[in-house]
Order: sequence, then C-alpha cells, then structure tokens
Amino acid sequence: MDIRKYLAEKAETVNEGLKSLLPKEDEYPQTLHKAMHYSLFAGGKRIRPVLVLAASEAVGGDPSNALAVACAFECVHTYSLIHDDLPAIDNDDLRRGRPTCHKAFGEAAAILAGDALLTAAFDLVARTPSKDASLAAKVIRELSRAAGSTGMIGGQMVDIESEGKEISFPVLEYIHIHKTGELILAALRSGAILGGADDLALQKITRYGKSVGLAFQIADDILDVEGASEVTGKPVGGDEKKGKATYPALMGLEESKKRAKELVDIAVSALDGFDSKADPLREIAGFIVARDK
Ligand code: IPE
Ligand code: IPE
Ligand code: MG
Ligand code: MG
Ligand code: MG
Repeated sequence: MDIRKYLAEKAETVNEGLKSLLPKEDEYPQTLHKAMHYSLFAGGKRIRPVLVLAASEAVGGDPSNALAVACAFECVHTYSLIHDDLPAIDNDDLRRGRPTCHKAFGEAAAILAGDALLTAAFDLVARTPSKDASLAAKVIRELSRAAGSTGMIGGQMVDIESEGKEISFPVLEYIHIHKTGELILAALRSGAILGGADDLALQKITRYGKSVGLAFQIADDILDVEGASEVTGKPVGGDEKKGKATYPALMGLEESKKRAKELVDIAVSALDGFDSKADPLREIAGFIVARDK
C-alpha cells in the first residue's frame, strides 16, 4: 500500500473534522480562536489522529465513529507543542514552518490557546457518536492519563529538569516514553477501544503502541541532528545547544537509528494475527523512523 497517500487522505479527514467541530476562527474572542487555528492548521502530520483511525480500522471498527476522538488527540498534541515552544520550556521560534504561536500572538495568547485546545479535547470526546457511553469514559481515562502528570506532562517536567545534566539511560527512557510515547499509545488504544477491540487485540495494539511511541521520539531526536529545518518546519540542532537529554546525545546517532529500527520490528510483530486491515499500522511503524519531517 501507498502509506504516504493513506496518511494524506486521513489527515484531510482529520482537518475537515477539526474545522467542523471546533469554534470558528472569527468567533469572539478572536485573538484566542485565531491563535488556536494558527497552530492547529499549520500543516502538522496528524500522526496521532491517524493512529486513532487506523487502530479502529485494524480491529474492524468503523473509523468514522472515531473521528471526534481522533481530533481530540490532535488538539492535545497541538496544545503540547504550543506550550513546549514557550520561552520557559524550549524557547523556540519556529514550528510547523511558521513562527511559533507565542512569536505570532504573544505569550499570554499562546498559553491560553494551549489551555483552550486541551479543554476542547475533552469536549470532543464527550461528543463522540457512540451507542455505548462507557466507551467514551474509557477514552477519557486513556487521554487524561496520557496527557497528565504521570504521562506527557511528567515527561516534559523531567525533560526540563534534565537540561544540561548528565543523565542515566533509565531517565532518558522515562522522558521519551512519557513526553511522547504515552499520547501515541493512548491514541492507538482509544481507536481500538472505539473499534470494539477484545482484550487480546487491545494487548497487541498496546505492544505496538509502546514501541512506535518510543521510536517516534528517537526519530524526532535524530531529525534534530540531521534533519533539514526547511523540511521539518522547526529548528535543527537545538537539542544539543540546550543540553537536552536525547538518544543521539546518550548513545550516538548510529545506535539510536538501530534502536529505532528494532522498535519498528517489535511493533510490526506485535500485530501478528491481525489481517490486512492492520496494514496501515504496519506501514506507519516504518514511516515513523523513515520520515524526514
Ligand atoms: C513533534 O511531533 C513533537 C513530538 C512529540 C516529538 P510531530 O512530529 O508529530 O509534529 P507535527 O504534529 O507533525 O507538527
Ligand atoms: C516534545 O518534545 C514533546 C512534547 C511536545 C510533549 P520535543 O521538544 O523534542 O519536540 P519538538 O522537537 O520541539 O517538536
Ligand atoms: Mg521539548
Ligand atoms: Mg521542543
Ligand atoms: Mg525534538
């Protein structure tokens, strides 16, 4: 299958969903809604929402039932990027090929746009079309656990506290699994839950998600070393300057690439037993480490 075509088509579905489900850009207070739209529609890859849809499809669900939840994951992700770029966190000026939200709208509006996107995510989950309300409650647990202090924000905290320090491998793994891996894992699990996965299918998706989640951040670290800013749409070389805890810094570029590839293999083998409906997930695993942006 042509995975780039699949990703582009699903990303378009997600974009349509986001446009129809979120407050419009010209809604009062305009500064806030403009800042939200500015970051949301800047051309992100939409990997997390696509994983929601692909996981739902893989277990035999109807992905259209998972669209609102897919959009919710993109809202949480975009909020995390807006806050990640703030002067107090990574202090970056470029994101998705344009000035970061705080550069374009000021820090106050950027902080508030992030807050609003996080909150909007839970509204989207609540609006998910489901015959079974308990499924939405399960998704809320997945999303809140992954986004909160024992998930992404915990990872962001340790990332910041580790800047400029020599850290051990377990701390590096903690950072990567939490700041990035958990949200990716929760996106997959949520899609599978909405698609009606049984326990065994959910276990397999979980194993796949843990591997691709970590691989995704290793690939991000590698792109910060050898990617091209015109392609990634964000600064290159910043991790080293800031003394960030990264895979290349701790184990070198070649070992990092090797580890990322191993994780892809583990992810793909976790899907053994699924039929061709899981092919998009199989292909996405490879895409995650082969990408140039
Ligand atoms: C970047 O995420 C931040 C990480 C968590 C590694 P993406 O690489 O998915 O960024 P977008 O959404 O495509 O801009
Ligand atoms: C970002 O990690 C993780 C989150 C936003 C939660 P990075 O700081 O490495 O992401 P980029 O490289 O700025 O996109
Ligand atoms: Mg960061
Ligand atoms: Mg950053
Ligand atoms: Mg990075």
